[in-house]
Amino acid sequence: MTTTKTIEQIVATEIALVDNEQARHALSRSYGNAAHSLRTIECFFDDFATRSWSEEALCVFFHNWRSPGIGSASFCALTFRLMMHAESAEKPEVRSLLYRCASRLAEVSHEDVGIGGINHQILYDDFATRLTGRDAWKLDRYHHDGTKAFLTGSRQYRQHGDDLGYAIVRSLPEELYNYGEFTFVAPRFVRWRKEHLGRPPEGVKDDLKFIHDHLGTTESGHFAALVRGLEDYAAAMGVLPDWTQLYESSYTLITDMAHHYGAIAQRMREEEERAGALAA
Ligand SMILES: [Fe+2]
Ligand SMILES: [Fe+2]
Repeated sequence: MTTTKTIEQIVATEIALVDNEQARHALSRSYGNAAHSLRTIECFFDDFATRSWSEEALCVFFHNWRSPGIGSASFCALTFRLMMHAESAEKPEVRSLLYRCASRLAEVSHEDVGIGGINHQILYDDFATRLTGRDAWKLDRYHHDGTKAFLTGSRQYRQHGDDLGYAIVRSLPEELYNYGEFTFVAPRFVRWRKEHLGRPPEGVKDDLKFIHDHLGTTESGHFAALVRGLEDYAAAMGVLPDWTQLYESSYTLITDMAHHYGAIAQRMREEEERAGALAA
């Protein structure tokens, strides 16, 4: 049975674990105020899971859903930058806090780069190829440009942005959102695979390994690591995190993702119409 929990309800348990009240408030408020966008995202996945799609429409989805290699490389870049910052710190206590902050940031990429498992880009490639039946989804012609501006900006900021504290604040909502989205979509993919791809139950673990590897404590652990990393950074620099920035990052990420899924849904419908016209 598909879970009836909304993304907001799923992330609420993780937000409740954050010690800092202002951080909790900023994150909860962003999900509350972005309710309309969250519904768009949830409807996208509900619609996805309740029908069969043409091969072309599936290629559009899988090409544009996730790119774990690019995402994790930018988190590694921020980790390396924090290490350089730590190395140049004069006070030993500042240095050790910044090194610990870098370690927290590194935790976000452990699974992605394949520590203890399979590199997540390889896992995603395998997942998409299994479910579409071939590797055509990788072709550039399926790329949808111009959406995910906030995510793309975050990746660039982790690599080149001036303010490392802001880079952490801006990244934190991404891991929380990932936790919510993966947990929301997992049962829907299980159902879709069974009902619309007609696959036998025994292959479900292999087919959906990419999604299942992001459940449980994986993404929620990344979120918790970033919260601790932000605390270390703030203590090292003697500043308080800007909670307005945290609210805005989270809110903008969600609204941007809703915009992205709206655009992808539109392109998938166009592919369906084209497939229908060709078949007629
Ligand atoms: Fe991952
Ligand atoms: Fe993550």
